[in-house]
Amino acid sequence: MSWTVQRRVVRATPDGAAASPSDLDCAADPHELRPRVHMGEGAARALMALLGQRGARKVLLVCGAESLRQSGAEAHVRRIARSMKLHQFEVKSARPELDDMRRGVLEFHGSRPDAVVAIGGGKVLDVAKVIATVGPTAADPKQFILKKRALPGRRTVQLILVPTTAGTGSEATSFAVAYILGVKFSLDHPSLLADEAIIDPSLSDSMPLRLAAGSGLDALCQCIESYWSVRSTPHSRALAACGMRLALDNLEAACLEHRRSARQALCQAALLSGQAINITRTTAAHAMSYALSAAYGIGHGHACAITLPAFLEYNSQVTERDVADGRGADFVRARIEDLLVHIRVSTPVAGAKRLRALVRAVGLEARISELGREGPSTQWLASQVNLERAQNNPRRVGHQALRQVLHACN
Ligand SMILES: [Fe+2]
Repeated sequence: MSWTVQRRVVRATPDGAAASPSDLDCAADPHELRPRVHMGEGAARALMALLGQRGARKVLLVCGAESLRQSGAEAHVRRIARSMKLHQFEVKSARPELDDMRRGVLEFHGSRPDAVVAIGGGKVLDVAKVIATVGPTAADPKQFILKKRALPGRRTVQLILVPTTAGTGSEATSFAVAYILGVKFSLDHPSLLADEAIIDPSLSDSMPLRLAAGSGLDALCQCIESYWSVRSTPHSRALAACGMRLALDNLEAACLEHRRSARQALCQAALLSGQAINITRTTAAHAMSYALSAAYGIGHGHACAITLPAFLEYNSQVTERDVADGRGADFVRARIEDLLVHIRVSTPVAGAKRLRALVRAVGLEARISELGREGPSTQWLASQVNLERAQNNPRRVGHQALRQVLHACN
């Protein structure tokens, strides 16, 4: 068979300091951790064999309205349908909405699958995680989203995730986003972690440029935020550093030249970003992104990339008075120095400039003022941010700081 199966891990430096680029080593993981990762051009052909190995006979396929056809994954699905019972469930909303999760859980009850397979972008994967975990219970997903009930300690059906965009890293995380009446909630539980992740760069070939650019920028932002997160560890920083280098070096070529090797590298960057934030969670740029996306109708990764340069400068000015990382301001400043080495610049200002140049190079607007439409006031935007989501930021963030950062993004 032509597909490759690889389990990749990035090793940290033994002393716990930040990994310099030369220290980064993507090598075979000796540990059997979930999800098992199958990565490479044509890797999606492994889907049928994996289901067979796992003894699946009834499969619930979760997909997007267009993702199955556009990604070219339809052929793999047809093969499954020839030898197993296959029910297909389409996620219709633009975001992972409670309604989709409820419909999916009903579909689960109707089809009683032994495996859930998701093929699509981050939204589809998030909905599938919830369906596979909540489906075997008799409960409404809302109960778990609102934390009125705890998710089951162990998922009882198998879950295989096949991303068709290179960016969110959702295939490697134990969390899922859910929206109820426009309000964003997060589920975070080990049961949401998939059994298998199949990452086939050819499935993202047909992504429109804006979506490809936004997805790649999401991966880059996740790596950078993970790197400076108060929850970072030597291992998470090594994962994040490797992912950010891959994203920085390949984003343009993957989006503009559709270079095969660059696309593969971007898929790996997305996976690494997922593995890194699964340890650290995200920080202030992600917390800010939801209000920006809603106010300006821009994609999630794009919204993160608009404020990330300003947060790089903001975080670099951390002091002992406002540091949020228990390891102290010196530690945070040292990690930001490391970050600048990975970005290949010498100052935070130059780092911010390089990041904005990359956003523009892939055809997106790098500042709020470039979005070309009247938006809400900085004050209102800042007030919409859930500060709890920014608590992993290394420098404390309040509404006043957010207004300052937003002002710098104009
Ligand atoms: Fe993200």
